[in-house]
Amino acid sequence: MTTTTPLSPLDADGVAAAVEEALAAVTAATTLEELKTARLAHTGDRAPLTLANREIGRLAPKDKATAGRLLGQARGRLQQAIAARQAELEAEEEERRLREETVDVTLPVDRRPRGARHPLEILQEEVGDFFVAMGWEIAEGPEVEHEWLNFDALNHGPDHPARQMADTFYVRGTAERETPGLVLRTHTSPVQARTLLERDLPVYIACPGKVFRNDALDATHTPVFHQVEGLAVDRGLTMAHLKGTLDHFARAMFGPEARTRLRPSFFPFTEPSAEMDLWFPQKKGGAGWIEWGGCGMVDPQVLVAAGIDPDEYTGFAFGMGLERTLMLRHGIADMHDIVEGDMRFSRQFGTTGKGN
Ligand code: DAH
Repeated sequence: MTTTTPLSPLDADGVAAAVEEALAAVTAATTLEELKTARLAHTGDRAPLTLANREIGRLAPKDKATAGRLLGQARGRLQQAIAARQAELEAEEEERRLREETVDVTLPVDRRPRGARHPLEILQEEVGDFFVAMGWEIAEGPEVEHEWLNFDALNHGPDHPARQMADTFYVRGTAERETPGLVLRTHTSPVQARTLLERDLPVYIACPGKVFRNDALDATHTPVFHQVEGLAVDRGLTMAHLKGTLDHFARAMFGPEARTRLRPSFFPFTEPSAEMDLWFPQKKGGAGWIEWGGCGMVDPQVLVAAGIDPDEYTGFAFGMGLERTLMLRHGIADMHDIVEGDMRFSRQFGTTGKGN
């Protein structure tokens, strides 16, 4: 049989051969495009099976059913094969596209862990902002400080116990003062002396910073900690200004409900001196007062040492612990959490502070 000989709708062998040929073409198609070509060739208007189907109408009535069944089955088989192959090729196509578009998860990536700002850094910034908003200036001093500024200028006598090496890290010299000493500053208060020597009056300064004492690290102590020093020297300042300033500061740090009290105390560089306590409802063993920091009216001797007339000027000063502020504010029970630098701890404070 040549291709030009039309296929008879009653030629079972011819129909079977046409189907085989068509199925072979469908199977051979390896792309959707090739399948389309095969489909048009074997089921299109000019395809032998289509033409044979069209001849059925012209057959004698008795042959119509036979031919109809023969061609119907043949064309049905072919349609099924085309549909099956179509599905196969579409799936392959899809898979190929997905493969081409996949991200290679084994490629090296940037695995550097994201850092977090330390909550103390955030707090120092917040404290700085608080004082700047009141019109105060931020002052700074070195962490390695002259023994003279750390102690003498602040009215500590030569035998003051804080000078002992048990409390103070000496960088040069000793508590016995053989040579002019250098110490790791034991408080931020030397910034008071520096400020009074360097700046013009009136002064309103705050100095958040790092301080050092020869203490072992435990749940409530650390040899390296932070304070914020405050100093105001002006005409007419009284203890009421000190109390008002610290109350305002306490509410900024601990919320509008914060309660404070001043308790008489002693510091060599203030007279009178006081300790400011905070009411702490969550205190272990029941609500109670907790010491927040020291404060007082600047001792006239400190003013005189800086060449200031204490009859004309008065001042107040304070030094608050920042670790303590953080622990009270966020219910941190163990100093180790603050010191160890575990980012899971630091991340809880977000990047802007207040634990958000
Ligand atoms: N310097 C003191 C300390 O570290 C705290 C302090 C007390 C600072 C009274 C002051 C002050 O400015 O007036 O314990």
